[in-house]
Amino acid sequence: MKTVKVCVIGCSGMGNLHMQGVIKKDGAELYAICDTDKEALDATYEKLKSSGVKKAVTDYKELVADPEIDAAVIVTPDQFHRQMTVDFLEAGKTVLCEKPMALNLEECQMMLDAQKRTGSGLMIGQVCRCTPGFIAAKKLVDEGKIGELFFVESEYAHNYEKAKGKNNWRMTPERSGFIGGGCHAVDLLRWIAGDPTEVFAYSNHKCLTDWPTDDCVIAIYKFPNDVKGKVFTSTGCCRAYTMRTVLYGTAGTIICDNTTPYIQLFEKGEEIQGHRRYSCPIQIPVSLNSHNIGAEIDIFIDAILKGEKMPISSLEGANTIAVCTATVESTKTGKPVEIKYPTL
Ligand SMILES: NC(=O)c1ccc[n+]([C@@H]2O[C@H](COP(=O)([O-])OP(=O)(O)OC[C@H]3O[C@@H](n4cnc5c(N)ncnc54)[C@H](O)[C@@H]3O)[C@@H](O)[C@H]2O)c1
Repeated sequence: MKTVKVCVIGCSGMGNLHMQGVIKKDGAELYAICDTDKEALDATYEKLKSSGVKKAVTDYKELVADPEIDAAVIVTPDQFHRQMTVDFLEAGKTVLCEKPMALNLEECQMMLDAQKRTGSGLMIGQVCRCTPGFIAAKKLVDEGKIGELFFVESEYAHNYEKAKGKNNWRMTPERSGFIGGGCHAVDLLRWIAGDPTEVFAYSNHKCLTDWPTDDCVIAIYKFPNDVKGKVFTSTGCCRAYTMRTVLYGTAGTIICDNTTPYIQLFEKGEEIQGHRRYSCPIQIPVSLNSHNIGAEIDIFIDAILKGEKMPISSLEGANTIAVCTATVESTKTGKPVEIKYPTL
């Protein structure tokens, strides 16, 4: 079996998770790593050199030009996703790019165009599609366990105070918290309920007052089949990071998140001893892994080895950005916005 030689760009904690995923994956080799921060690069190389890493470089273009490399994993600040992805695709490498795919639809379209031009594979790291609790919830919905969906809601409740500092690329005005973080909740609902057609959103700016963008957004969506949806995003709330998600169907309700070792299923069903069945939910155990990067790397490498389409496609990533940017537009105009999707 061929071994997929992989490079990972970005040596942060997230970058290291991706590197570990590659090292553990049969059929993959962590061939090279890259970071402009020499200290971070050297520290990561020291830690991983016994795993056989061949190269540690500060300029990713050296890896773009290296014919040995089959695949690139991009874990750099969002502002670099577009350029790096296009460069690796043009060099014939298969790319896994962290979410958000890019900061606006124009950049996403450039990435889609490069993919079309080159025929190379591009996957976007929308990791909620690898989160055990969300996978279990989607399966129940797809099996019809809660009947027909009528309302879906999710959230990205986080606090970015710690993200300040010398490398704080998250504070740039183009990187609204709704695009950078809210894309998780939007992508999750799109995965479960389809592509919304319209959004109406409100926002405010009370927590991270020295940041350039609003830190709280509440958005209402029209999903297909007359399903309504809501996403709440806060990047300044006083609460441990979570993505509480509730899926309401005509025959039941599911409550799930990325930080609880079970999901709750409320079923309509027959009464039990005079009590409504849904007054007592069933708790279905799930393993806890809110950043299941190992699974993300597994499906990426498997698709390359089997010559299959990328499991979380570039169009999925771009459609999520289409929803996010329309949401931010609605907060600014105070009007509902029709969501326009890109093409591949
Ligand atoms: N999937 C998730 O849940 C999740 C969680 C956190 C971050 N992310 C995403 O991962 C990416 C990285 O985020 P982070 O939190 O690791 O950021 P970070 O700032 O902690 O790390 C980014 C690293 O990239 C390096 N870097 C910057 N510019 C570079 C360049 N031109 N070439 C090579 N290296 C460069 C920096 O030196 C730094 O080490 C972002 O796109 C972010 O949105 C995803």
